[in-house]
Amino acid sequence: MKLDDVSTDLEEVLLTEPQIHDRIAELAREIERDYADEPPLLVGVLKGAVMVMSDLARELSIPVEMDWMAVSSYGSGTQSSGVVRILKDLDTDLNGRRVLIVEDIIDSGLTLSWLHANLQSRGAKSVEILALLRKPDAAKVAVDVRYVGFEIPNKFVVGYGLDYAERYRNLRGVGVLAPHVYA
Ligand code: PRP
Repeated sequence: MKLDDVSTDLEEVLLTEPQIHDRIAELAREIERDYADEPPLLVGVLKGAVMVMSDLARELSIPVEMDWMAVSSYGSGTQSSGVVRILKDLDTDLNGRRVLIVEDIIDSGLTLSWLHANLQSRGAKSVEILALLRKPDAAKVAVDVRYVGFEIPNKFVVGYGLDYAERYRNLRGVGVLAPHVYA
């Protein structure tokens, strides 16, 4: 789905498909350098990270493994609740592994702060974080993020994996949702 296909639902376009593609390629070059000695296990956080995981993994020229977790923090509203639940756990033993968490967005930081500690406690050799988007103005806890795609304003954004009530995940770009959609 293109940004133009839902233009009346968007207040503003934040990121186009080529902008996202180019930034993911830049991050992939950094990851290739940082993990040249030992390929990482990419841990994607469902469902939002599906697009960034898919594009990042294919962009990388080093072998990676992929696994997935599903955690819940939002429900279908527009604000983080701070409550994190594991809905689906990893299949992989993390003991001694270099783990790279792949996320679509850091909003309050509560999800990733919790997830980072959780994965570290499983005996991983290292746990780093990649987030395509970060909202600095929404941070409630500090999270040490190694790779950030874009810093964005504290607005309700959808697209490229990010949803509102499960819609807009398949949008190729990222936009600010118009208030009339969720009012
Ligand atoms: C979103 C996003 C992060 C989290 C970020 O997931 O994918 O996991 O919220 O918010 P935080 O920094 O305030 O914790 P969501 O719970 O909406 O699930 P989804 O990926 O399935 O849409």
